[in-house]
Amino acid sequence: MTDSNTSFNRRHFLKTAGSASAVATVFGVPALLRGKDLNSKLQFAGIGANGKGWSDIKEMATHPQLAPVAFTDIDLTRMDKVKRLAPDARLYQDYRKMLEDMGDKIDALTVSTPDHMHAYIALDLMRRGKHVYCQKPLTRTVWEARQVRNQAAKDKNIITRMGNQIHSHSAYLTGVQLIQSGVIGKIKEVHSWASPTGHGYSGLLERPKNPPEVPTSINWDLWIGVAPMRPYGGERIYHPFAWRDWQDFGSGAIGDFGCHILDPVFTALKITGGPNSIKAEHSGINDEVWPSQETLYYNFPSTEYIAGDNINITWYDGGRQPKASLALLPKGKTLPRLGSIFVGEKGSMLLPHVGMPELNFIDAKIEHKIEKVESLNHYHGWIDGCLSGKQPSDGFEYGGNLTETVQLGNVAVHFPGEELKWDAKNLKITNKEEANPYLTRKYRKGWEITEVN
Ligand SMILES: NC(=O)c1ccc[n+]([C@@H]2O[C@H](COP(=O)([O-])OP(=O)(O)OC[C@H]3O[C@@H](n4cnc5c(N)ncnc54)[C@H](O)[C@@H]3O)[C@@H](O)[C@H]2O)c1
Repeated sequence: MTDSNTSFNRRHFLKTAGSASAVATVFGVPALLRGKDLNSKLQFAGIGANGKGWSDIKEMATHPQLAPVAFTDIDLTRMDKVKRLAPDARLYQDYRKMLEDMGDKIDALTVSTPDHMHAYIALDLMRRGKHVYCQKPLTRTVWEARQVRNQAAKDKNIITRMGNQIHSHSAYLTGVQLIQSGVIGKIKEVHSWASPTGHGYSGLLERPKNPPEVPTSINWDLWIGVAPMRPYGGERIYHPFAWRDWQDFGSGAIGDFGCHILDPVFTALKITGGPNSIKAEHSGINDEVWPSQETLYYNFPSTEYIAGDNINITWYDGGRQPKASLALLPKGKTLPRLGSIFVGEKGSMLLPHVGMPELNFIDAKIEHKIEKVESLNHYHGWIDGCLSGKQPSDGFEYGGNLTETVQLGNVAVHFPGEELKWDAKNLKITNKEEANPYLTRKYRKGWEITEVN
């Protein structure tokens, strides 16, 4: 464990602040801030200080009422940016040591580690009463997503948000508004896709044969965390970034992009539960990495925005895409590399990932002027929630449900071509007993996750 020599400077985060806390009433103040000076800043720590972690921390730090007090990263070479951002903040390699030292001085944390550690860390933080912003996918397994969801449901004073920042982007907000306005009628089917492949970042299909020694700057035991121990693989084999490819750590292309691209589908159609069934087709799988190309066929029960009593939602990745004709595009136009097509009774909506929606009607004479919904600040939305006690729309109950669906895809890929029937209430695949072990994982000794009842 490494701790910086910089002394913890309480004055840094007790500076009085202006706007948001001033509007918090005594009743609206979350439990964690009760008893403190209402004008004090939200005391913040970031777990995972580089990659997306740095982007999360940097965005959070633009909020006038946030005081960064500590950061954790298992790799000491990846701390430079946070040091420059907040020279007085304390630095750690083990987030548990950070909480041991500073627990009562930290209100809210970001979790931006690789996927396999999200649930362990997020649950630990929530059980300690901390507000949590956790990257997508919320967890690595279906079972973990249910535990995080259950924990969020238990304590409504804890403000949570998943790191699917496009949820607050004008493109997705506008798309959701259009679907719910009924402009293309009720929705008959949805097709969503992402171009990245399920593996290819490390360039390997099997573990490296002669891995180098772990650099002294990296605490490999902490990086491995809940997963079975294996040797450090070398730069960009697992750490950083390339862990995405590997079943023990990442969640493939559906895990990387599903919580983004399916998010406006879930929000627009008000899907709050799991699918009826799922079937996977793909280009091949071994025991180590995810398939390079997948098609996942989900079937969901109906909601008020769905035509009929169920709906097919199909996911494609690794270069696979739906038929462009489903979007009723004008001649010569092609589909974007990532996005969704909502097929409605009167027409289709093409929603590119981070791009404004486009409407095309079966009756080509129909024209509709799209009114843009302005973007919100996703990061500030969570901080404002922590300060006011108001839960943002994509807290862990919502994010947990979306993640369960996404990670069910990573169960189905082990049984290609077979339709798996899903009993969401009981967290069980009902027609294929051998599939159920894939809903969870074996935890390394000392890193077990306790079930949340
Ligand atoms: N929302 C988005 O648009 C978006 C974009 C990229 C990544 N992500 C998500 O962010 C997370 C991180 O992805 P990344 O690409 O930044 O990965 P990365 O491997 O590049 O970076 C992860 C960082 O966390 C550190 N880390 C690893 N284990 C840790 C632990 N146990 N405790 C503290 N620090 C630890 C690493 O040293 C590294 O600095 C993933 O869940 C990923 O899915 C989200």
